[in-house]
Amino acid sequence: MKKLLPALLAAGLAFAPLSFAWAQDGQETAQTAASEEAGHDAGAEAAEEGHAETPHYPLKHPEQLSWSFAGPFGHWDVAQLQRGLKVYKEVCSACHGMRLVAFRNLEALGYSEDQVKAFAAEYTVQDGPNGDGEMFDRPGISSDYFPSPFPNHEAAAAANNGAAPPDFSLLAKARAVTRGFPTFVFDLGSQYQEAGPDYIHALLTGYDQEPPPAVESLIQPGTYYNPYFISGPALAMPPPIGDDQVDYPDGAPQTVDQYSRDVAAFMMWAAEPHLAERKATGFVVMLFLVVFAGLLFVVKRRIWSGTPH
Ligand code: HEC
Repeated sequence: MKKLLPALLAAGLAFAPLSFAWAQDGQETAQTAASEEAGHDAGAEAAEEGHAETPHYPLKHPEQLSWSFAGPFGHWDVAQLQRGLKVYKEVCSACHGMRLVAFRNLEALGYSEDQVKAFAAEYTVQDGPNGDGEMFDRPGISSDYFPSPFPNHEAAAAANNGAAPPDFSLLAKARAVTRGFPTFVFDLGSQYQEAGPDYIHALLTGYDQEPPPAVESLIQPGTYYNPYFISGPALAMPPPIGDDQVDYPDGAPQTVDQYSRDVAAFMMWAAEPHLAERKATGFVVMLFLVVFAGLLFVVKRRIWSGTPH
């Protein structure tokens, strides 16, 4: 019995994160509902009541969505990533670059080498210098990276009311709204890592709301109220996308909600292309550790069985 207890404890510790993750699906809705009620819109409420203090941003917290890549068995929904790429190419790339992603990386989204070549050739890339020391333009090739829409940060800011549109390469991992106590404690167990895509979806679908009167005075001219924006009441990006703006050949709904989910998933892939492999490897490692712990326990009992105590 004395020997069993520590072993049971160790096994319990090893399994705890897994069982939390399995329980997550059921918890998800309860947690979201709870966080929506409690504390959630505290900033907006304080502002509505006319408190003079600066509200906490974001005014509203993102809704927690279910993503195919969440949890220990997370995987990419390739059709969704392809739709997200289409939204990025046709809408967001007018302002946002993605300088760390190369065209050849798109093969991971199920495109053949020839499809990627054709896709790259639609872009114009600056190359050089040539023999005369001049830079020149040429069609893109697979090894090129997505060209940025503006030549430099200053030009990007000047064209957008002083705020340069951030590069998309790592944005989905760089934006995570802090979730506060006690949600962040549950997040340790449920392995919640989708705060970035949840935020991007909330931001893109959060434009059509009326600012509360006290917040209205804080909105700078040329910026657009969005209660989900992480660092202020309004941002310099106008609502970027509307219903039916991008054609989906696969019959998925052509709504802002669906576009936002797809482009957020695509941005998560851009920021962490090896996420699915990482999770699969992690699961096998956990399985191995559990089996190995069992083996160690049996061997230990065997070796010490003849020793009186
Ligand atoms: C007309 C130009 C323009 C287009 C098109 C555009 N954006 Fe933006 N975006 C901006 C600007 C400017 C900012 C910086 C806003 C700020 O900091 O005030 C921004 C910021 C963002 C941010 C970061 C917000 C933050 O937390 O800092 C995200 C996410 C974003 N855009 C997503 C998108 C997506 C997705 C699309 C395509 C559906 C898109 N944008 C299309 C101009 C644009």
